[in-house]
Amino acid sequence: MTTSEIRQKFLEFFKEKDHAIIPSAPVVPEHDPTVLFTTAGMHPLVPYLLGTPHPQGKRLADAQKCIRTTDIEEVGDDTHLTFFEMLGNWSLGDYFKKESIAWSWEFLTSKQWLGIDPHKLYVTVYEGDGVVPKDEESIELWIEQYKSVGIETKEGDRILALGREHNWWEQGGVATGPAGPDTEIFYYVGTDKDPKFSEDNDDFVEIWNNVFMAYQRQADGSYTELTNKNVDTGMGLERTSFILQGLSNVYDTDMLSQIKSAVHNYAEEVREPTFVATHPDSNERAERIITDHTRAVTFMAADGVVPSNKDQGYVMRRLARRAIREALVIGIQHDLFARIVPRVVALYEDEYPELGMNQVQIMEVLKREENAFRQTLARGLKEFEKLLSNKKELDGHTAFTLYDTYGFPKELSLEEAKRINLAVSELFEAEFDQQLEAQRNRSRSATAGQFKGGLADDSEIATRYHTATHLMYKALRNVLGDHVMQRGSNITAERMRFDFSHGEKMTPEQIKQVEDMVNEQISKDLPVTFTEMNKDKAFEAGALGAFGEKYPDTVKVYTVGDPEGDYYSKEICGGPHVSKTSEIGKFKIIKEESSSAGVRRIKAVIE
Ligand code: ALA
Repeated sequence: MTTSEIRQKFLEFFKEKDHAIIPSAPVVPEHDPTVLFTTAGMHPLVPYLLGTPHPQGKRLADAQKCIRTTDIEEVGDDTHLTFFEMLGNWSLGDYFKKESIAWSWEFLTSKQWLGIDPHKLYVTVYEGDGVVPKDEESIELWIEQYKSVGIETKEGDRILALGREHNWWEQGGVATGPAGPDTEIFYYVGTDKDPKFSEDNDDFVEIWNNVFMAYQRQADGSYTELTNKNVDTGMGLERTSFILQGLSNVYDTDMLSQIKSAVHNYAEEVREPTFVATHPDSNERAERIITDHTRAVTFMAADGVVPSNKDQGYVMRRLARRAIREALVIGIQHDLFARIVPRVVALYEDEYPELGMNQVQIMEVLKREENAFRQTLARGLKEFEKLLSNKKELDGHTAFTLYDTYGFPKELSLEEAKRINLAVSELFEAEFDQQLEAQRNRSRSATAGQFKGGLADDSEIATRYHTATHLMYKALRNVLGDHVMQRGSNITAERMRFDFSHGEKMTPEQIKQVEDMVNEQISKDLPVTFTEMNKDKAFEAGALGAFGEKYPDTVKVYTVGDPEGDYYSKEICGGPHVSKTSEIGKFKIIKEESSSAGVRRIKAVIE
C-alpha cells in the first residue's frame, strides 16, 4: 500500500464516520507566535479543543504537515524525521474513548482498510496519578477488541499501564494548553514468535496515539477539567507506511526512498574519482539525513520561511546546513538543493500544491543558502583544522572565533569535533556565551548614542508613515510580484523601515517605479477607510497581511481608495492611518539593502 493510499484511506475511513476532512495548516503556525512550528495535528485546533465551536462541526480529520526538531540527533536512525505527516482525527466534545479505540482498531485491522495482523499490535494506557485515575476503561475496551478477533489478553500482557512520561500528552513549549492521558498503539517489527511487550524495546514501534484530551494545563502546572471531553489522535504516516510495506525503516518507503535514491545517484555521478568513502554505514546515515532535511527545508520554504539567524529561519538554516555538510561526506560538493529539491516537489505537489506553486522561490531561497554556506564551510573547515591541529579539546573560545570571524556555526564546530573524535571542553557553552556576551557589549557601546527618535507612536508623522507603508507594500507587489510579503516594519519620526521577501537587489528602475507609484496614489488624494470583518472574509476579499502575524477572529481592514469599487490597497491592520492620501506628503526611498537571506529592507522618508 503506498503512502498516498494510506493517507487516502485514513481520510475516507473517517469521512465514513461522519468526520469533516480539513486541509493541512502551514508548518508555521498562523495564529500562534508562541511556537515556531506546527508540531502535531492538534496544534492548529487548540482554540477548538479549548471550547470554541469549529465551523465544520465536532468531528474532524486531516493529514497535517509537522516539524519537530527535538529528535534531530536521532534523524538517520530507522524511525525519526524532522518533517513528517501526521494523520489525525478529533472529537470536539463528541465521541470519547469507546468510539476512538474501536475506530482505531477497525481502521488498522479490518481487511477493508489497512488489514494489519492484530497479533502484531500492542497498546499502552495511562496508569493514573493524583489528578487522573488509572484508565481502566481503555484497558477494558482494548481487551474487548482483541477478544473480537480471538486474542485473549490482559493488562501486563499486550496492554501496559504506564506513567506520565509515556502516557500523558500535552502540547510542548507552551505554558498552558490542552492535555490528557493517552493510549498508544504499537506495532511489533521484530522476529520473536511471542515477544514480551516493553516500551523500551525499539522493535515495538509507536504508530498511533489517541489522547483523551479532557484537561487544560494552567500556568502554575495544575490541571482543570475542560467542559468538552475531546479526542485528539495522531498517526505517523511515514511509520505506518514502512510497516505496511514490510520494511525496516521509514527511508525505504515509496516516497522517501525516491528522495534517498536521488541523493545516492547524484553522489555517484558527481563525486571525484579520488573520493574515499568513509564507512558504508555512515554513507547510509548521511543519505538519510540529507533526505529528511532536504524534504523539511523544502516544505518550510513553501510556507514562506527563509533561512536566517532567528526563529523559524534559524531552524531552517540549521537543517539546510546540516544537509550540505552531510552531502560532503558522500562526495557531493555542489548543487545539492538544485538537484534534489525538484524531486521533493514533484513527489509531493499533488498532495501539497503550495510546493509546485512556489517552486521558483523555494529553489531560489535554498540555492542561495547553499552557495553562501559552501563558502563559509570551506573557509571554516580549513580554519578549524588549523586552530585545533595541536589541541586536545574543542573549547568555546575557539568555536566563537570560528563563528565570529568565519561565520562557522557553533553546532558545526561541535559536529566536526565529534566526527574527528576530538573532546569538547566541559565549559564549552559557558566559554562560548561569555565571548558572545562580550561581543554584544562591544557593539552596544559602539552604537549607543547613534540612535535618536523613538519607537513608533501615534503622532501625526508616524500616522503618515504608516499609510505610506501600505501604499509601498502594494507598489512593491505590483512592481516585483506577488511573492513579496511583509516581513517586518518599523516606523520612527524620521523614517520608515520595511522588510519584505524578495530574492534580489532591486534595480534603480524598480525603486523609481515604486516611488512613482506611491506618489501617484498620494496625489490622487484617495480616501483611507476601514471596516471590521471576520478574518477569513478579509483574506477572501484579498486583504494583505504581514507574514507570520497573529490575527484575532475579527480584524480591521484598511482600504486606500473605494472599498467597494476601485481601490488601490486593502490590508489587515490596527491603524491608525491618515484619512486622505494627500496628507502623507512626498515619498522617497533612501535605501534598499539586504536584511537577511531572501529578505530585502527599504528605508524611506516622507518630505
Ligand atoms: N497530539 C498527539 C500527538 O502528537 C496525538 O501525539
